[in-house]
Amino acid sequence: MFVKPAAPIALLAVPYTENILTGDNLPSCLADNFYGIFGGQSVFKVADSSCLDFPALLPEDNTLFPLNIAGQQQLVWIEESAIDHSLENPEYQTEVADFIRRLHADEIVLPPSDSQTVLTPDAFGAVSLLHFNGRSGFVSVPDEVAAHTLASALPRFWKASLVPSAPVPYIPVPYPAIDHVRDLLASLRFDPVVASIVNGLSIDQMRKDIRYLTDEDGESGIISRHSFAGGSRIAADWLKAEFESAGATCELRNFLVGFAPNVVCRYSASQNTSATVLVSGHYDSRGSFGFQRAPGGNDDGSGTISILNIARRIKSTDITFRTNVELVAFAGEEQGLLGSKAYARELREQGANVTVMIQADMLAYHAPDEPPQLGLPLYIGTPEVTQLVANISAIYSPELTVGFTAACCSDHQSFHEQGYPATQVFERAGPIADPMYHNSGDVSDRPGYDLNQVRSIAKVQFATLLHAAGFDFSDEDELN
Ligand SMILES: *[C@@H]1O[C@H](CO)[C@@H](O)[C@H](O)[C@H]1NC(C)=O
Ligand SMILES: *[C@@H]1O[C@H](CO)[C@@H](O)[C@H](O)[C@H]1NC(C)=O
Ligand SMILES: *[C@@H]1O[C@H](CO)[C@@H](O)[C@H](O)[C@H]1NC(C)=O
Ligand SMILES: [Zn+2]
Repeated sequence: MFVKPAAPIALLAVPYTENILTGDNLPSCLADNFYGIFGGQSVFKVADSSCLDFPALLPEDNTLFPLNIAGQQQLVWIEESAIDHSLENPEYQTEVADFIRRLHADEIVLPPSDSQTVLTPDAFGAVSLLHFNGRSGFVSVPDEVAAHTLASALPRFWKASLVPSAPVPYIPVPYPAIDHVRDLLASLRFDPVVASIVNGLSIDQMRKDIRYLTDEDGESGIISRHSFAGGSRIAADWLKAEFESAGATCELRNFLVGFAPNVVCRYSASQNTSATVLVSGHYDSRGSFGFQRAPGGNDDGSGTISILNIARRIKSTDITFRTNVELVAFAGEEQGLLGSKAYARELREQGANVTVMIQADMLAYHAPDEPPQLGLPLYIGTPEVTQLVANISAIYSPELTVGFTAACCSDHQSFHEQGYPATQVFERAGPIADPMYHNSGDVSDRPGYDLNQVRSIAKVQFATLLHAAGFDFSDEDELN
């Protein structure tokens, strides 16, 4: 007989640490009801109050709140991105204060569809507040489609992530996989061949590519690369063609109806190995509310041209990799890492062996009076991979000042959650300071947009790929 599981009565959020999930003492009523990491917290649904009879296990700063929502409702996490104080101008503060007031007063009604979507018009309804903690919290909306239009009702530096409708397995990165990354670090030495390969990344080509993706050159006609916009399909087709002309084998992989596909490109290993090194960015973008234009020159056109120019250099040096290499441009990042979540889950289900994953998200901006930087994730990611990337930066891009950032949770989180060693490279050793973040003015030709920094960080992403995958030449002369 089918026994209906007890309806969840509460949502429990605890500050994320690897331990709370891997600890052997974690009761199965929690371990089996894990819903993901939201805003640096592990989130569980609790169906039974006896599940909470272990206060010693939980950090003191946990949050527990009742969950009294109807079955069809979609839970969504909303939060303010980690932004620099310089972006909190009075206009923005007014916008946030107004949003929070309307949220508490149940006044936020979602539009049928935002101007950038192609989704159906039944997506509207009220946003109900479940729990709110100043600058972040959980809300519920009528359904999943409504959840995708929620972003257009949020203040400009805020983002929304869907809480899945069923629990997700939490898979910690296994020790052998971490040891493998430690071995890479222990054997890391300056390699002049790696240096000449990565130093060949062309800034002129990067400029051409970003101007195409943003349509600053008037060639692509792309108004927006928002995942629902037509321009994202133009971008996907173009990226596939460009990666293929750089010798990769690509697929456009759809993951959700209405969303642009992931662009997944591969160079197969020269040796008999399952090991796969994956470098990525996300090609979807977001603009200002009420405006169709979303050039995404920095977020994340910059990460996209990083992996594209890595491919172009693989072609011009004619190297082959000893392990498999994947270069992936994700979509659906701006709606809560949806493209990468789907792909990482698929890889896990297939038993894929991703040994190192590095996501490039926002590489271009630093304040005009700041030096070029590399920001590494303070919270989500595999510390050993982050350390490897930091050391590689010191070797191959010493011009970068390396530090940590609280800007959190790009597509590497999806891989980390599936137990793959992963990290992110970012533009700043501090919070987001780009005044054009999630703005229709995010083009490449503007103060603070520094293609030299994009190239320096791309060198780090590329050198890590070369060290982790191993490579050979068919002809050494190609290097020159
Ligand atoms: C990595 O960098 C750190 C900090 O600069 C340094 O102490 C360490 O020796 C480096 N590790 C390797 C293996 O090069
Ligand atoms: C490749 O490796 C697998 C597993 O180690 C082995 O079963 C297979 O025979 C190998 N294939 C070739 C062509 O050597
Ligand atoms: C994955 O690849 C690494 C590196 O080659 C190897 O050490 C490891 O055994 C592989 N893991 C699996 C599960 O095949
Ligand atoms: Zn981004």
